[in-house]
Amino acid sequence: TEVKATNVTWHDGEVSRQDRNALLKQKGVTLWFTGLSGSGKSTVAVALEKALMERGHLCYRLDGDNIRMGINKNLGFSAEDRAENIRRIGEVAKLFVDTGVIVLSSFVSPYRVDRDNVRALHAESDMDFIEVYVNVPLDVAEERDPKGLYKKARAGEIKNFTGIDDPYEAPESPEIVLNSHELSLDEEVEVLVKALQERGVI
Ligand code: PPS
Repeated sequence: TEVKATNVTWHDGEVSRQDRNALLKQKGVTLWFTGLSGSGKSTVAVALEKALMERGHLCYRLDGDNIRMGINKNLGFSAEDRAENIRRIGEVAKLFVDTGVIVLSSFVSPYRVDRDNVRALHAESDMDFIEVYVNVPLDVAEERDPKGLYKKARAGEIKNFTGIDDPYEAPESPEIVLNSHELSLDEEVEVLVKALQERGVI
């Protein structure tokens, strides 16, 4: 979408993104975890954050429920609200990346176009975006049902629940796929740490 305000100009400071990256000895990047509710997005992000912290790297997690209690508290789960949810999170992620932080973003983000928009926003600003598809079969996520939401959705108590009566559009060419029902948490973290090393993030 277009910028609505008129008479606004971008101001550059005297400290660059490269300076901040050098200070932190890492490169700001967004790792965008996407997958069904109960796929394990948050679990792997939490474990990765800990592993990176132990190696001396600064991360920040942006996570579904937390963001929906704050900056996005006025948004629900209609397609329009989900799009706005993801758009704002994408912009917030960019601010952190510009700061030099490794962003671990875990949202269902079920619609391909919304994720691709965030990817494009990063590319426009010459920022790395790594899409991580946390892939589990629906029946595995539903079996886990950590918050009892699938049960409610099946009973018709929650409408537009992803995977039940709202679509999940799997990524077509994600940078990384984690088959989280076949890998241990340690193995997943290892895959991700290696990917960050290969890309020169850490
Ligand atoms: S989205 O689609 O990316 O905007 O969703 P997100 O911000 O990640 O929020 C998903 C979490 O909210 C709970 N929840 C729902 N998910 C999907 N569909 C519907 N209708 C819904 N209603 C509530 C659900 O617990 C998701 O949490 P996670 O952590 O992914 O299980």
